[in-house]
Amino acid sequence: MELKLEGLSPVAKGGERDVFVHPENKAWLVKVYHQRFYDVHQKKYPIIMRFRRLKRYWSLVNELIEFIGIREKSSVETKYLQTIVGMVDTDLGIGMIVSAVLSEEGDLAPTLKDLVKNKQYQPMHAEALEALFQWMIDTHIIIRDFSLNNLVWSYQDQCFVIIDGIGSKATLSLRSFSKSYNQKANKKRVEKFRSRLAKVLGS
Ligand SMILES: Nc1ncnc2c1ncn2[C@@H]1O[C@H](COP(=O)(O)OP(=O)(O)OP(=O)(O)O)[C@@H](O)[C@H]1O
Ligand SMILES: [Mg+2]
Repeated sequence: MELKLEGLSPVAKGGERDVFVHPENKAWLVKVYHQRFYDVHQKKYPIIMRFRRLKRYWSLVNELIEFIGIREKSSVETKYLQTIVGMVDTDLGIGMIVSAVLSEEGDLAPTLKDLVKNKQYQPMHAEALEALFQWMIDTHIIIRDFSLNNLVWSYQDQCFVIIDGIGSKATLSLRSFSKSYNQKANKKRVEKFRSRLAKVLGS
């Protein structure tokens, strides 16, 4: 049965997806791609898009691969990644159902960007970031878009949770073949992230 989302107000909007509270379960979110994401890619990468088997949902599949990849490894901490509950047909296209990370008040958890903007960033957050960086390096997860908006603070687990930006951009990525290359790529993203964070903390 198709889930009806049309007409509901998204609880959050990203550059790629609209995020809705699941109409039947408040603990879940449903993420659906908006047309603009597809249009932008079509315009920016017409050749790549011509050869992509999935024109619209390629990044959803790549995100899923990383989510499952972490579970395929034994004894790897999973709290750093949002939980993907499943897929659902909606009247706005395929929706990805995920567990909502919530604040103590029951709202959506703040992103790292929110914490900095609202002057709530504390030493415990800096410490939690270091733990996350180490986890990224150790697990060889493929991080595509590592931004302040894509991390939310879980007060329950006292850690940052990656809620977006995982999975490679390319269909055949060198990052999935070479652990050391991927590690370098993740380290590069961590360094960029550090300087971006230092910049916003200083401003
Ligand atoms: N599991 C989650 N728990 C709490 N909040 C979330 C969760 N997933 C997404 N959000 C909120 O919704 C916003 C948009 O979600 P998401 O980053 O997945 O969308 P996107 O369109 O892919 O983003 P981008 O603009 O980075 O491409 C996030 O910045 C965050 O505030
Ligand atoms: Mg995002």
